[in-house]
Amino acid sequence: MKDLSPKQGDLEHIETASRDEIASVQLQRMKWSLRHAYDNVPFYKRAFDEAGVHPDDLTSLADLAKFPFTVKQDLRDHYPFGLFAVPREQIARIHASSGTTGQPTVVGYTKNDLEMWNDVVARSLRASGLRSGDVLHNAYGYGLFTGGLGIHGGAEKLGLTVVPVSGGMTQRQVRLIEDFQADGMTVTPSYALSILDEYAKQGRDPRESPLKVGIFGAEPWTNAMRKEIEDAFDMHAVDIYGLSEVIGPGVANECVETKDGLHIWEDHFYPEIIDPETGEVLPDGELGELVFTSLTKEAFPIIRYRTRDLTRLLPGTARSMRRMEKVTGRSDDMIILRGVNVFPTQIEEQLMDVPALAPHFQIELSRPDRMDLMTVHVELAEGLSADARDAAAKSLSGKVKSNVGISVKVNVTEPGQVARSEGKAVRIVDNRPKES
Ligand code: DLL
Repeated sequence: MKDLSPKQGDLEHIETASRDEIASVQLQRMKWSLRHAYDNVPFYKRAFDEAGVHPDDLTSLADLAKFPFTVKQDLRDHYPFGLFAVPREQIARIHASSGTTGQPTVVGYTKNDLEMWNDVVARSLRASGLRSGDVLHNAYGYGLFTGGLGIHGGAEKLGLTVVPVSGGMTQRQVRLIEDFQADGMTVTPSYALSILDEYAKQGRDPRESPLKVGIFGAEPWTNAMRKEIEDAFDMHAVDIYGLSEVIGPGVANECVETKDGLHIWEDHFYPEIIDPETGEVLPDGELGELVFTSLTKEAFPIIRYRTRDLTRLLPGTARSMRRMEKVTGRSDDMIILRGVNVFPTQIEEQLMDVPALAPHFQIELSRPDRMDLMTVHVELAEGLSADARDAAAKSLSGKVKSNVGISVKVNVTEPGQVARSEGKAVRIVDNRPKES
């Protein structure tokens, strides 16, 4: 793998600033952001008034804990533009969640917001090891999803040659990576695996690909998966995190030289970790729910937004800004199986340890005989005969039993049978009867 570490002069001043300087920028911006939300969004005025707090009550960063949380339902309740803090005419762009599970949630950006987004994405891509003049194959979906266009703007800002391929047509993905000599690829980790399979189908060696780095996010993935992808492509794999409500991709990114968790660009997005049960702010280092407050956004300021993502805050390493540990999962994706809490990433970790199985998987939940059952659908690795199935199934269920602590059924299919996605993977299919 190529050395992609930053050289002297590559970074912005704030990336290596002292903690005191960062805190002072944050405090000044946080005061502005609370005031902006309070003065321009009736929802925040009401919420602050009801909680008995006023923007003037914030005199230190810790005072933020006095302010009320915002949750996804608040966005739904104010569909479509009710949480915007500027007149609609000043909104330069709108993004939205797909809304497959209910009311879509809508977010808006002013021209300045788009500039700031470009800046944090450019910073993320640079942290990943890309530099002006490199070619970026951007396979995140373009459209209402923030992945495609968000990465695109930042990539142009950094001076990359962007290939806006979006998701899908996997054959063409491989061809364009090769023909255009892509240095980097931005894509969900699950779709990266489909692209990897396509290399094999076309009889090409992915280790010979021009790629130096893959920048993966929009869904949880493990360090075990990182190793699998890095070995397969002989390139670096780094993690990018973000969410539409806060901006999109580029809220936090791993540095390629350390790969030790994601530096949060906390000059724009202020993180807190809370106990998801009590809402109490937890000290750095403790595991809990990630909460964000935007510090500079104009169109859609967001105050103490509960992401439902579980992680912990760690001190800065390659940059002064704090890191968040790789997200283990969303509280929404936590499965409680006979009293044990399980995240799909825990299954992924075990699966990566069984060489006879391909890295694709889906979890099905059912309730035969009134007992919850978890079936893990996986595929036999390419080139193995069907005789290897039983042993592979036993190996995975044994590892899950001893390392995760639950009994699962493993269904090993032929290669290509587990559902693929071109964006975020659907890891859990819940076929249990709905509680009435
Ligand atoms: O997924 C933005 C994005 C696009 C991030 C491309 C990175 C790359 P949403 O569709 O609003 O936005 O989904 C946000 O996805 O709350 C997490 O649960 C999950 N997520 C995003 N990045 C990661 C990551 C985009 N690196 C939700 N690791 C978030 C784990 C992630 N989960």
